[in-house]
Amino acid sequence: MISVIMAGGSGTRFWPLSRASYPKQFLKIVGNEPLLRATYERIRPLSTDEEILVVVGREHEEETRRILADTRVKILVEPFGRNTAPCVGLAARYAAHLGAKGPLAVLPADHYVADPEAFQDAIRKAASVTENGGIATLGIVPTRPETGYGYIERQTEGALDGVYRVRRFVEKPPLETAARYFQSGRHYWNAGIFVATAATLLKEFALHMPDFAAGVDALAETFDTDRFAPALETLYAATENISFDYAIMEKTQEAVYVVPTHCGWSDVGSWYSLYDVRRSEADSGGNVLEGDVAAFDCKDSFVVGQGGRFVAALGLKRVLVVDTADALLVADLDRSQEVRRVVEDLKDKK
Ligand code: GDD
Ligand code: MG
Repeated sequence: MISVIMAGGSGTRFWPLSRASYPKQFLKIVGNEPLLRATYERIRPLSTDEEILVVVGREHEEETRRILADTRVKILVEPFGRNTAPCVGLAARYAAHLGAKGPLAVLPADHYVADPEAFQDAIRKAASVTENGGIATLGIVPTRPETGYGYIERQTEGALDGVYRVRRFVEKPPLETAARYFQSGRHYWNAGIFVATAATLLKEFALHMPDFAAGVDALAETFDTDRFAPALETLYAATENISFDYAIMEKTQEAVYVVPTHCGWSDVGSWYSLYDVRRSEADSGGNVLEGDVAAFDCKDSFVVGQGGRFVAALGLKRVLVVDTADALLVADLDRSQEVRRVVEDLKDKK
């Protein structure tokens, strides 16, 4: 099957480790590989290199090519980000150009999955229900009342082989609502991963983003030529910045399915969620320590020393310390979602 890796993100949440020029998908924040490379490895049992499309912004093209240098994947370069809807539309048209008949899987480049086999099973299941139409999403069984994710509510009836029809999507609810969803047994986290045939997707774009769909169709004759980049730039300049969830999923009249999975997924969207993913490495005090770091009497803290010097911590409780060569972050670990405030502030000043 065709797999589309969306790798257009620009990182602010992992400041000071990630910078605009070096976003999350390039970081080796879990294990020894960049998240993008781990995403590629995760889908290899599903797609050959020739069936993998990586959609990336121009400013990240070079690093993406470097990380995937030994592969034969196709890299589609966007002149600038227009969010996920145009990215999916472009990839779907390219998949049609390749002659793909079956479903394609669309995946973010910067997620973590603890159990790749469970993940692959869920994608295969999603592909089997959408062969003749419809759109399937992966639904992650929630492990906490997280407010940083969108939720998918399934219908109570009509499960077929563990696949449900979707009742509705709720984007990033407040805590009380998230707590209710967490208890219900009918709500899943929206991982932003979905599966549909190129034909279904292109039909949906023609219905809900008709100008863009016509543009991308006209663009097809430039694929794999020098005329592609300038033609895409002209098209993108005239295209709205809009997410796939908003542009298509909320409007579609197609059958929408959710495939529940327990694959140990995290979008590692903040220092806290990275701490959570890496908690298995924690010492007896619950501290995750990385680099040349020593902790004394610390509890549930996350200390990262990547600045090329020794870092010592004493008596910290739920504190985040990230030391790099040119910047040091010290923060309340539970407020790591707010790191982007630092980045915004720096942007204003510099
Ligand atoms: N190529 C390309 N171009 N990729 C893009 C672009 C773009 O313009 N914009 C975003 N992406 C990629 C990002 O790199 C990321 O991998 C993915 O698309 C999703 O975009 P995010 O910006 O990270 O979305 P989000 O985190 O706010 O929300 C979505 O994901 C959550 C789970 O991680 C929603 O689908 C939520 O409902 C969901 O819970
Ligand atoms: Mg995200």
